[in-house]
Amino acid sequence: MEPTKKRVFSGIQPTGNIHLGNYLGAVKNWAAKQDEKINYFCIVDLHSLTVPQDPADLRFQTRSLAAMLLACGIDPAKSTLFIQSHVRAHAEGCWLLNCITPLGWLQRMTQFKDKSAKQESVLTGLLDYPVLMAGDIIFYDANEVPVGEDQKQHVELARDIAQRFNSLYEQEFFVIPEPVIPEAGARVMGLDDPTVKMSKSLAHVRGHAIRLLDDPKEIERSFKRAVTDSGNEIVFSDDPEKAGVNNLLGIYKAITGKSEAEVLADFADARGYGDLKKRVAAVTIEALLPIQARYQQLMADPAELDRLLAIGAEQAAAVANPKVDQMKEIMGLVLPQQK
Ligand code: TYM
Repeated sequence: MEPTKKRVFSGIQPTGNIHLGNYLGAVKNWAAKQDEKINYFCIVDLHSLTVPQDPADLRFQTRSLAAMLLACGIDPAKSTLFIQSHVRAHAEGCWLLNCITPLGWLQRMTQFKDKSAKQESVLTGLLDYPVLMAGDIIFYDANEVPVGEDQKQHVELARDIAQRFNSLYEQEFFVIPEPVIPEAGARVMGLDDPTVKMSKSLAHVRGHAIRLLDDPKEIERSFKRAVTDSGNEIVFSDDPEKAGVNNLLGIYKAITGKSEAEVLADFADARGYGDLKKRVAAVTIEALLPIQARYQQLMADPAELDRLLAIGAEQAAAVANPKVDQMKEIMGLVLPQQK
């Protein structure tokens, strides 16, 4: 008998430019493991509303991200790809989870503390963001959540919320999910400052990120400008001094799928950091060019894109909506009569 396939859920926000960190920390691994799992990949537009957005821009970015995920290899025949707001369970179920989640759990989230410190007026949605994310995962009975390092705390909170519901209502209703963090690419750092992670909110800053739609010249320029150190040793290292070189080697490792020893062997004959940067740029360009070509094709046919997203939404709704209806019943709400 075939072993039962693990259920996978992961999500990505449609705002800001999708960059190499998102690709290597998450999307590349989603695509690589599709055959082995039952997959739900979600464009989390409701999460994007937790900071102010321009409506037209959000609409464009949402479709653009769908095209990009397909271009990166997410295959609708193997995975359910959908937009979060197309499935009512997410917003509705989030309310139900809000009513069992202690406020203190949300106030201690590091991402909330970081993001709220940078804003004058903090929206309620920003505090509630991890509850919406917990629902995303647990309404699909997901066993695994492939994410970059920065989302680990949120997945752990999803576990706590699932466990709290199960214990309050004395049943194994929710599956307890596990974060799955890749061995390489889990934390891609900014090229302009290797002490901060590469982030969508800084992707417009020159030289910070490699955006998946950057042209080869731009990619070469950004790597060329990447901050390194005053030495000349090309080694993997935890030394904060060598964070820049370590980051470049980490990017090369994640893109090529090679081991540390193989990566170092590739650079044994490199003449200084200039060579290192050129070679990392070359493998990046080689990986991104076919993705960019597929993206352009997909964006040229918006009707097909919408058709695929409608199928995804239907498949996702068939799982999450009944789950949330069951939750309502468990919590004592009266379900409407079926006509
Ligand atoms: P988001 O949109 O910020 O990022 C999408 C994915 O990219 C990973 N990532 C990185 N990985 C390595 N290095 C980096 N510099 C880097 N920056 C981002 C993130 O870890 C993530 O895996 N809250 C989530 C979206 C979400 C979600 C979910 C994820 C909503 N619901 C349910 C998993 C399950 C977010 O904002 O990701």
